[in-house]
Amino acid sequence: MITINPFSELSEFIPSIAMQAFVVAMIILVVAGTVVDMIHKKNVKYFFENAKKAKKQATRTVSTGNKVSIVIKTVASDVLTTSELAGKRRIAHLLGMYGTIIFWVTSSIMIFCYSTTKSVTPPIFPLLWHLGAIMTCLGGYWFWFFLRVDVAAEGNPWYRVIKADLFVLSLVVTTTFGLVWSYLQAASISGWDTLLLVLFILSNLVLFGGVYWSKFAHMFYKPGAAIQKHLAEADGSNENLPEPSDKPKQFGPGIKREAPRHY
Ligand code: HEM
Repeated sequence: MITINPFSELSEFIPSIAMQAFVVAMIILVVAGTVVDMIHKKNVKYFFENAKKAKKQATRTVSTGNKVSIVIKTVASDVLTTSELAGKRRIAHLLGMYGTIIFWVTSSIMIFCYSTTKSVTPPIFPLLWHLGAIMTCLGGYWFWFFLRVDVAAEGNPWYRVIKADLFVLSLVVTTTFGLVWSYLQAASISGWDTLLLVLFILSNLVLFGGVYWSKFAHMFYKPGAAIQKHLAEADGSNENLPEPSDKPKQFGPGIKREAPRHY
């Protein structure tokens, strides 16, 4: 199963052009959802106005070379290794983030280059596609069942679903349906494989069509916010913020009675 390109098998029933059109439609949904989100929440407008205001409070001048180096360091650390998060959260996020990227990139390669009945797909692509899906499921379900703040720190049950869960849930459900569909297709369990294909398509529509309502766009906003934060640290414009509290030090070992799980 893991070396079979499921889209090439699918091309017996669905023309390759239809699959390609579906991918393009999903990209359009992401762009449209993000733009409408930016217009509605005015978050990007606020972000730039705030950055302009902060600049006036700068106490140092940062050279262009220095700025470029800050941007490169931020991409290498905050973005590529999600250094904002620590411990299990970071590992779960890295699994989910890289799993998803691998899954999306290999889906596009297989759909655009190897989705006809005559295509011979290099086995590395379906292999990576399945690996990406498994990584996304591991990171996503780990986050969903154990690490979510409202479960890990606020004591809510894992099955409590709110609107904020739309992104993580639609992401893991999509990759789960993708994996099960590929298995049923490889095992030639007809009927059920069609059902799973329909569920895979529907969950993709929810994931990419739900950008406006979900946390999907954080993958675009977070890198921008991290760059702005490090630039503000460098030019001193963040220095009117209060210093981190050192009060816990005054309260002795009692502070160790409870693990720091309040966010
Ligand atoms: C393909 C790219 C990415 C995927 C698939 C992804 C996936 C996720 C998921 C599923 C969540 C949990 C959402 C929830 O609270 O329900 C999450 C949270 C988060 N993501 Fe990402 N993400 C991506 C890119 C990024 C990038 C580039 C950054 C930072 C530069 C980032 C930083 C974060 C942070 C700080 C959280 C909050 C984590 C927590 O509450 O434990 N993500 N991401």
